[in-house]
Order: sequence, then structure tokens, then C-alpha cells
Amino acid sequence: MTSYQEATITFKTLFSEKMIEDRIDQLADQIAKDYQSSDHLVIICVLNGAFIFCSDLCRALSRKGLNKISMDFLSVSSYGDSTVSSGNIKVNLDIANDIDGKDVLIVEDIVDTGLTMSKLFDTIHAKSPNSIKLASLLYKPSRSEHKVKIDYLAFTIEDQFVIGYGLDYAGKYRELPLVAIYDGE
Ligand code: IMP
Repeated sequence: MTSYQEATITFKTLFSEKMIEDRIDQLADQIAKDYQSSDHLVIICVLNGAFIFCSDLCRALSRKGLNKISMDFLSVSSYGDSTVSSGNIKVNLDIANDIDGKDVLIVEDIVDTGLTMSKLFDTIHAKSPNSIKLASLLYKPSRSEHKVKIDYLAFTIEDQFVIGYGLDYAGKYRELPLVAIYDGE
């Protein structure tokens, strides 16, 4: 395992820039094939964490010849009191497109317990798209509580808190170009 030094903090690199780039290229191959006959693909980027993964993925799709994609953005958070999850999510920013009858690909940073994605699926489903699929950069199977089907998954990880490539700890480290294990400062 290599390390990545930023100022005085050293992170253990889990997935390097090259590993992420290669894996996204593979996913883009598969996604471009699956949607080649779709005229109405809407990619929904789940903010904030998926912004880097989504931007690299959609450019990889363009390089594979998949164009005419509409991009949309959505921001969600779970709500309830600070210690007990209400088992619900709050949509802070809703999508702007009408997705009725369209093919939707949700792009997420990480599926942890699966709460966010299972609820988000219901929210998107209520808008009557033709199809809904999910692409996620990361998945922590050991933390799974809510069943979520991930159609395109870049990497499975252990029960570790990770940062970088869009993922944060307390709002920081999203800008790291790789995924690293957060061990505290
Ligand atoms: P879930 O609803 O439990 O699946 O949680 C999903 C959300 O939790 C993700 O979109 C992230 O914002 C956050 N999250 C879960 N695990 C991590 C992690 O290891 N690093 C950073 N954010 C995480």
C-alpha cells in the first residue's frame, strides 16, 4: 500500500489515480454498450460526494461514443435527531429535468448502509422514468442494512472510512485525486 502526503498528513492510498482511471474506463465500456440504443439517458449526480466520479465517468462515456446525455444534479441528506436515524432522507436540491419515460443512471460516491440509495430509488421511481440504474464508486457490503442493487460498481471496500476523489471527512479532503483510508489527523 502506498501513501499520499498532503502537508503534514499522510493517508494510506486504497485506490490510486491510475486504478480509478482504469476502472472507470471499464465501467464506461459496459455502460456505453448498455445504453447505445437509448435516446433519453439522464445521468443524475448525487451531490456532494459523487461530483468527481460523475465528471470522470461522463467524460469517459463521451469518449466511448455515448453522447446526447442529459446531466442532472441532486443533493440529499438523512434527517432526524443526531443519534437516531429517522430512516428517511431529505432532498435538499431536486433534479431540474423531467425524467418521465427516460432512462436514468444515478451516480453515487459510496453505498454504505444503503439507506440513502434505497430511499432515493423510491423518490426517483415516483417520477416515472423508463428505467433506473445505479453506478457507485464504492460499496461497503459489511455495513449493508438496506438492499440496493448496484448495476455498475467500481470497487468493494472493507468497513473503513475513506476520503478523497469526492468523499469527505467533515467537509475536507474531497479534492484528493485518489481514494485513501482516513485514520484521523
Ligand atoms: P448510506 O445512506 O448509509 O448508504 O450512506 C451513504 C452516504 O454516507 C454516502 O453518500 C457518503 O456521503 C457517506 N459515507 C458513507 N461512508 C463514507 C466514507 O467512508 N467516507 C465518506 N463518506 C461516507
